[in-house]
Amino acid sequence: MQAAEKFSFELCKETADWLLGHTKQRPQIAIVCGSGLGLLADNLKNQESFQYTDIPNFPHSTVPGHEGRLIFGELQGKPCVCMKGRFHLYEGYPLWKVTFPIRVFKLLGIKILLVTNAAGALEDSYHIGDFMVIRDHINLLGLAGQNPLLGPNEERFGARFPALSDAYDRKICALALQIARRLGYASFVKEGVYCMVGGPNFESIAEARLLHLLGADAVGMSTAAEVVVARHCGLRVFGLSLITNKVTKEYDAQEVVDHLHVLEVSQRQASVLQRFLTELVGQLEWIDSDPEDKETACQNGT
Ligand code: HPA
Repeated sequence: MQAAEKFSFELCKETADWLLGHTKQRPQIAIVCGSGLGLLADNLKNQESFQYTDIPNFPHSTVPGHEGRLIFGELQGKPCVCMKGRFHLYEGYPLWKVTFPIRVFKLLGIKILLVTNAAGALEDSYHIGDFMVIRDHINLLGLAGQNPLLGPNEERFGARFPALSDAYDRKICALALQIARRLGYASFVKEGVYCMVGGPNFESIAEARLLHLLGADAVGMSTAAEVVVARHCGLRVFGLSLITNKVTKEYDAQEVVDHLHVLEVSQRQASVLQRFLTELVGQLEWIDSDPEDKETACQNGT
């Protein structure tokens, strides 16, 4: 990648200004909907929707299950914007393009980013249909030198060397787990470590064993790069994986994963995810608080 090819601050601003000029809504929460998990976006009130193809500079979704619309609206009375369809490295997009919407969100005034994804379970106690609150991630691509922040740093977004030891907001995680207990979801809402790989192939058995040994509980082809960029520009982050399959770690196992199966499980659990995140958004209290002040940013956080 040549740094000069990257979207500049000005291009991000051009996109944000275009959106701000086409809607009166001023969202404070952005939600990235993972594979087959767009139902949440359909249930926003007072929707205004933009096709990615109509938004200046926006990449286009090429994956089945990722529709390609940005939807503004309210969830529990709170102004949100949902990405129905995200971008992936395996589509051929460089990571700075995959994560471009996150910087646009920052310039729209977003304070909190909620990311969802479909993931395969590496941890044996996880079941298909479980949810995993992401406590932390392993950015395998980042460790190997594929990072969306490569190239000259744009100080207007953030510092050269962002910390990631607090990438996933602990207060929001605690609030989510508390909500899961209240909704009776505790038996299928877990907390764990997500590993991002490049895809598009699913893992070989040796790779699955390696990732599990490294400490990953679930694996997928998104999210960590978006989170790196979000933390670089100071957004607070909450991540939720839907476990759509168990990743095979044994040579005599019969199951073989495919994308259709991933979408089927997502669609089956989409309404549960919707209820869970709707409750969470309803209890996030951020608008009048300093975004850096994690003590006051959630109600009921423990
Ligand atoms: N591996 C990688 N990505 C995935 C998987 C998986 O098993 N399931 C859903 N996304």
